[in-house]
Amino acid sequence: MKVLTVFTSKGGSGKSTLAIHMAVLASQQKRGNRVLMLDYDVQESSTFWTRTRKAENPPVLPANAGSLVGYLDQAEEEGIDLVVVDMPPHSAIHADLVLSRSDLVLVPVRPGALDLWALETTVKAINENHARGIFVLNQVPARGTEADETEEVLAQMAPQIPVAKSRMGYRKPFSSALTAGLAITEFASPREKAAQEATALFKEIKRNLK
Ligand SMILES: Nc1ncnc2c1ncn2[C@@H]1O[C@H](COP(=O)(O)OP(=O)(O)OP(=O)(O)O)[C@@H](O)[C@H]1O
Ligand SMILES: [Mg+2]
Repeated sequence: MKVLTVFTSKGGSGKSTLAIHMAVLASQQKRGNRVLMLDYDVQESSTFWTRTRKAENPPVLPANAGSLVGYLDQAEEEGIDLVVVDMPPHSAIHADLVLSRSDLVLVPVRPGALDLWALETTVKAINENHARGIFVLNQVPARGTEADETEEVLAQMAPQIPVAKSRMGYRKPFSSALTAGLAITEFASPREKAAQEATALFKEIKRNLK
């Protein structure tokens, strides 16, 4: 079983959006992947999304510090292939519990909303738990150099954490899809840029999880 955790101390950077997309795409792999999503956020964005969703996959369970480890153990026993954990913003209580069990920690970063303090806290937590991280630029503006500048800052701040080649643009259909209880690939044509970006990111994350 692999554990993919979506984590950053910075609020609103796209944790829930990316966690949902990685979980949906993983659950739709040809060779029936068994995927579970754990929503560790008190705001329960992912749990809210699943209530609107008609499909049963991927199942989303609200989790807290008390239940999380038990869910991970149970998922392992039941032969789940991938658990995706959607973390809360700010200093998650007991984040260590999750980070130390994660095979990969996906850190969404919004160019232009660079909050160095939040990033440093995030990187510190990843390093202290000997976890492997990957930054993903999300909500990238269509124009300008902000994303490239952000990538340079990240490379200087945390050279051991790579930046994903796949960037996620700022695209309204991402939020429209989630509001409809769907992922972008279920909501828009595969030719839609947003769907292509989500698929490319999933492939890259899958390679990094191996
Ligand atoms: N690539 C994107 N393009 C457009 N809108 C996006 C994108 N990613 C996220 N959003 C929107 O930005 C807002 C914040 O995203 P999301 O809820 O995924 O962030 P979060 O990190 O989980 O937030 P929180 O810290 O509150 O848990 C949402 O309204 C979401 O629809
Ligand atoms: Mg969230």
